[in-house]
Formats: sequence, structure tokens, C-alpha cells
Amino acid sequence: MTANANPEFQANEAAYQALLASLMEARRQAWQGGPPATHERHRQRGRLLVRERIEVLLDLGSPFLEIAELAGEGMYEGVAPGAGIVTGVGLIQGRACMVIANDATVKGGTYFGMTCRKHVRAQRFAWQHRLPCVTLVDSGGAFLPDQANIFPDEGLFGSIFHNQVGMSADGIAQIAVVLGACTAGGAYIPALCDEVVIVRGKGFLFLGGPQLVQAATGEIVDAEQLGGADMHGRVSGVTDHIAEDDGQAIAIARRLVGELPPMPAPLRDRAAPREPARPITDIYGLVQRDSRKPTPTREVLQCLLDGGALSEFKAEYGDTLITGFARIGGWQVGVLANNGVLFVDSALKATHFIDLCCKRNVPLLFLADVSGFMVGKEAEQAGIAKAGAKFITAMSSAAVPKFTIITGGAYGAGYLAMCGRAFKPNAMFMWPNSRAAIMGPDQAATTLALVKRQNLKPGESWSAGDEESFKAPIRKQYEDFAAARNYARNLWVDGIIDPAETRETMTLLLDLAARVPAPPTRFGVFRM
Ligand code: COA
Repeated sequence: MTANANPEFQANEAAYQALLASLMEARRQAWQGGPPATHERHRQRGRLLVRERIEVLLDLGSPFLEIAELAGEGMYEGVAPGAGIVTGVGLIQGRACMVIANDATVKGGTYFGMTCRKHVRAQRFAWQHRLPCVTLVDSGGAFLPDQANIFPDEGLFGSIFHNQVGMSADGIAQIAVVLGACTAGGAYIPALCDEVVIVRGKGFLFLGGPQLVQAATGEIVDAEQLGGADMHGRVSGVTDHIAEDDGQAIAIARRLVGELPPMPAPLRDRAAPREPARPITDIYGLVQRDSRKPTPTREVLQCLLDGGALSEFKAEYGDTLITGFARIGGWQVGVLANNGVLFVDSALKATHFIDLCCKRNVPLLFLADVSGFMVGKEAEQAGIAKAGAKFITAMSSAAVPKFTIITGGAYGAGYLAMCGRAFKPNAMFMWPNSRAAIMGPDQAATTLALVKRQNLKPGESWSAGDEESFKAPIRKQYEDFAAARNYARNLWVDGIIDPAETRETMTLLLDLAARVPAPPTRFGVFRM
């Protein structure tokens, strides 16, 4: 019987198809943007919708790797699909660029807290990979009711400007196309770009709109005089190029990208890409639908790696972590894939392998599916704390590109050691089945129940039924928290990808990373 005819495989696959259907529906809603009536109004004004603008901007057939496409899902009472902004990497005139585009059908393209975070995340990705940024501006600035999440802190609206200035100083080109409103804080986004295109009669850029000016100073002035294309193109000099409509403005932006210095050549070699040994869609049947059962990691690797080939490092040692050199889309990667709980030997193996990759300038790919580091007397006596610290030191210090994909459950310090978000991987995605949390739902409920039981007053009773009623909501809360969708919604990861999208996503990411020189790694102290 072939693997695919196995009933277990088929049951897993059927469960996975349901997850994929739910992911596609979430994407559809994010792509839809604001309600249909606002689409209609936007079109009647002679404007393209945000995704149409991006399509015109990118080269025909270009990939578009979205960053944070599901950010904000279900937040703000559902009024801000995709957080009102689309961000992603695509090709313009053959060179990879970061596209940042407001969706004016979502509350006038205004910035919610999550919109700010998404814009900032896109900038950081662009900065790290030295990608020019093209910003399609159509935004009323801050969404005023959400000011606590927009205004005061680092990482919010002000950081957009701070990043623009830093990127500019680092020689990263930034081009803005003003296609609609550009009010208040939003006006500084184009004003801080290298070159600005504006659409006559449709693009407006001002620190305060006509109503605000009238209220503040009594001056009566219309939007055209205050911040239209002719005023900025001829009088203020805030904009540099005038277009007659969205299409022409975007065509000018494409021309401006074409005038930039050429895209840097890759600094790593690329072999001829090879198909994996098994179809990538076999992953659907391999990933265990019952999260308590292990997924066969080696078989999953056969579906992901070029030729299914992993040149394994220390195959016989510390086998709860698989390490080895492989290629994806022809690009070399150092793979670290979990295959059980992390022990002292697996942590030491990870440390040694990361050191090798740093010495050889090989990017690291963490495939996280780990319940954590081993606990208990034996593990502590063997020095699991210092072995784990070595792993974390190596992973955290490594200055080669790092990528994380959560393929199963990633918990506690295991999640962190497998290059969790805090360690700033170049990009981090989750598969739809995957989960991440401090600990699993059962463990969290049991731990809290044990604490409660220990604290019972003498004579106080707590029946098994009471305990179960106490545990059930904790389990539910942990399950909801750990879900990939919750991570994507909160921008704790860059998105959720269908496992079948993993190779093309990684190929693009490795290509981008290959064009940026990796600084030398300086390791922190390794406790011996
Ligand atoms: N904060 C909160 N909500 C805002 C907003 C803001 N800054 N700007 C617009 N909205 C809301 C509107 O109330 C409306 O909500 P509704 O759909 O529930 O009715 C929705 O966004 C769309 O706005 P609307 O004015 O109907 O759309 P429009 O396309 O005609 O105009 C703008 C869009 C952005 C040009 C216009 O709304 C505007 O000028 N807003 C004020 C911008 C401003 O002064 N910002 C200052 C930020 S510091």
C-alpha cells in the first residue's frame, strides 16, 4: 500500500483540506477590503482599488509575497480587513521592491494601531533586505479613536517616519504615489520619500484639510488650492511628478524604479533547482491531525527540500533535532527541524551546527514543532539549562539570514530557541495547523489546577468535577491563543502559508537574503 492510500494519511489529508479552506476564506476577506458600497464609491471617483493598483505596479507574472496579510483579522469589530493596508514584496522592472499600499475602502485608508505595526514591519523587512519601497498613498492619516495604539509608543506611527529617515540615510530608495487623501501624519509619509508622484484632481496632500484649516484659522480654502497636484507641483515643490490618473501615476513610479541603480547580484551560489523527492502536497497527509501524535519530520523534509536531499549532520546524535545542509529552489540552507523534545545532546548539536552555518555563511531555516526542553531531575543534572542557553546564544548571535516556519506545536523555550519572533528572524511564517504558546492547553490547565489545589484552605474540598470546570475554560483560552490565526492576526508572525507554498516562499526569501552581505557573527559567552 502506498503512503497516500493509507487511511491514516487520507484522514490527515481531509482534516488539512478543512484548514486550508478556512485559510483561503480568511484571505478572501482580507483581500476584499472595505464593504462593497465603498468599493463602488471608490470606482465612481475614477480610482483603482488597492489590489488593482498593485497589479498594475508589478511586472506581469511577478510573485507577490504578502507580509502580514491577515493582520488585524477580526479586530476593531471587523471594520479593518488586512488592517487597511497591503504590504508585500514583488518585482518592478525586474527588481524586488517592497510595496506598501493603503486601502482607501477601509475607513478612508486611515491608520489603526495594527496598520501602523504592519507598515513598520514592512519597512523593517525592506530595510533588512535593502529593498526599494514604493508607497501607494491613499489615507486620511490616524484613525482617531485608536490613538493610544497609534501615537505614543515606539513601533507605531512615528516609527514609520523614523524608519523612512534611517532607510534613506542607508541608501534605500523610497518612492511615493499620492493617489488620494494624504492628511496630517499621512502627509509626512510622501514628504519623507525621495520622489513623489501625485494624481491631478485626485491626490491631495496637506497637514490639515480644508475643514480643519477653517476651524483653526478661519481661512476658507478648497482642497485643490490647499494640497492639489498643481499647487504642490508648481508652488510648494512637495511633489515631483504630476499624473492624470492612477494608471499614469503608477507607470511613472515604475519608470522611477527603473532608474534606480541595479538590483545587487546574489552573494551566494545557486544550484539548479530540483523538485522534492515527494510531492509537496503529501505534507497534508503527513501532518498529524491529532496534535498529540508526532508528525514524521524526515518524511516532511522529503516533500520540502530539493531532491528531498538532506546532508545530515550528526544523524546518530541528539536525534530529537534533525540538522543538515540542503537546498530549496537551488539555494543552500542549514535546516534545523524538531523531531521530539529537546535534550542536552540535541541542544549541543544545534549549537555546533549553527556555528558551522555561520562560519560558512549559510542561512538557517528553523522548522519548529517542539513541546520544549526536557524537564526533570535527570535533565537538570545533565545541565539542560546551560545546554539550552548555548543553543539560544548560538541562534540569537547568528548573523546569517534566519527563517522560521512553525510546522506543528511550538511551545515555551522550545519556541524561542527555534528562532521565535523575539530573535528577529528575517521572516517567520506558520502553517495553518500550527500552534505556539508558553505551554500546551492541558499542561496550562493542569498547572493552574495544581497551584489552586495546593492553596486550598484546610477542610476545603475541591471535587474532580469542580476541577474539570476550572480547567475547561483555561484549555479553551490556551487553544484559542495558540492558533496560527491568532498569531497572524496579531502580527506575531508574518503570515500563514499553505505548506504547498513553502518552497516558493523560501526560494524568494533566500534570493532576497542572498543579495545582502551578512555581517560576521559575534557569539555571546557559551556557558561550558
Ligand atoms: N479617524 C477615524 N475615522 C475616520 C477618519 C479618521 N481620521 N477619517 C475618516 N474616517 C472614517 C469616516 O468616518 C467614515 O466612516 P464610516 O464608513 O463609518 O462612515 C470612513 O472613515 C470613510 O470616510 P469618508 O469621509 O466617508 O470617506 P472619503 O473617501 O470621502 O474620505 C478622507 C476619506 C480620509 C479623505 C476623509 O474622511 C477625511 O478627510 N478624514 C479626516 C482626515 C483627517 O483629518 N485626519 C487627521 C488625522 S491626524
